[in-house]
Amino acid sequence: MNSSIKDASHPSIVYYDGDYPSRNQTEYPENFDEVVTYQGIADDVDKYIQLTAQYGKKVLELCCGTGRISIPLINQDCVVTAVDASAAILKQFRRKVGSIPFPKSENLSIVKQDVTQLSLDTRDFDVVICGFNSLLCIADFNLQLQTLRNAADHLRPHGLLALDIWNPLAVNLYGDIKPEPFFTRKNPHNGNTYTRFAATGPMTINQVQSVYGWYDEFKKDGTVTRQSYHMEWRLIFRYEIQLMLERAGFTLKAIYGGNHNEPLTSDSLKMFIEAEKV
Ligand SMILES: C[S@@+](CC[C@H](N)C(=O)[O-])C[C@H]1O[C@@H](n2cnc3c(N)ncnc32)[C@H](O)[C@@H]1O
Repeated sequence: MNSSIKDASHPSIVYYDGDYPSRNQTEYPENFDEVVTYQGIADDVDKYIQLTAQYGKKVLELCCGTGRISIPLINQDCVVTAVDASAAILKQFRRKVGSIPFPKSENLSIVKQDVTQLSLDTRDFDVVICGFNSLLCIADFNLQLQTLRNAADHLRPHGLLALDIWNPLAVNLYGDIKPEPFFTRKNPHNGNTYTRFAATGPMTINQVQSVYGWYDEFKKDGTVTRQSYHMEWRLIFRYEIQLMLERAGFTLKAIYGGNHNEPLTSDSLKMFIEAEKV
């Protein structure tokens, strides 16, 4: 799906480009922070910080979004290169950079690139991070594999790739009957309440699922406006990711069932993966 990523027109980027109110109003701060807090998984940041203490502080973050992970790493004295394909998202990231005090702010480089075609001058990063399901947003097996190869190409020998992705067994692979309310918020621009409805479609033979739904905004005159959204992700199973990593030039070090080194079980919401470059 991301083979010909064209910035803001790409469905995954439209989907993740903030949330509903920011679609046409890019001044609204992006909501990854809120979404991961809502899902109870915001402590992934602590895990990434621990890994940089272990492997080294020269960090590349792939699919960085608005800096939810990169900014805390900078505050822990890491030197971070953060890459995303969405200009709108990176604009919001740059706005947040103001919160980083000088001279730490000098340790951050923000790069707009498609990670499936990643090419940076630096090739000796200690750690590459691809957090919060970002690999799944590249909804094509070969492009996911190419992204892992690109990560290996940019790491020093024995450097670490750390990523987290859904455990497919925790996802409804048959699809939801209909979108259900996911959250309700206030539109910061006009004070109206809006509800996001979300659903996944059935998984295809290529392990791709639609993620779709709509936003209903309740206007003061009693009417409702509906705006639909749609993206796709490609789920990856436990031994599949191991084989993909091996094929991309990594040795799997660990797969946990969460951010706290929990054992991976069929009930685990996600897989937290650590792999070393061979
Ligand atoms: C689920 S968000 C995760 C953001 C961030 N890593 C976090 O944890 O808050 C996925 C991000 O991947 C980016 N993305 C999707 N496909 C991409 C690609 N091919 N190259 C670079 N970035 C991409 C989107 O723009 C979005 O910011």
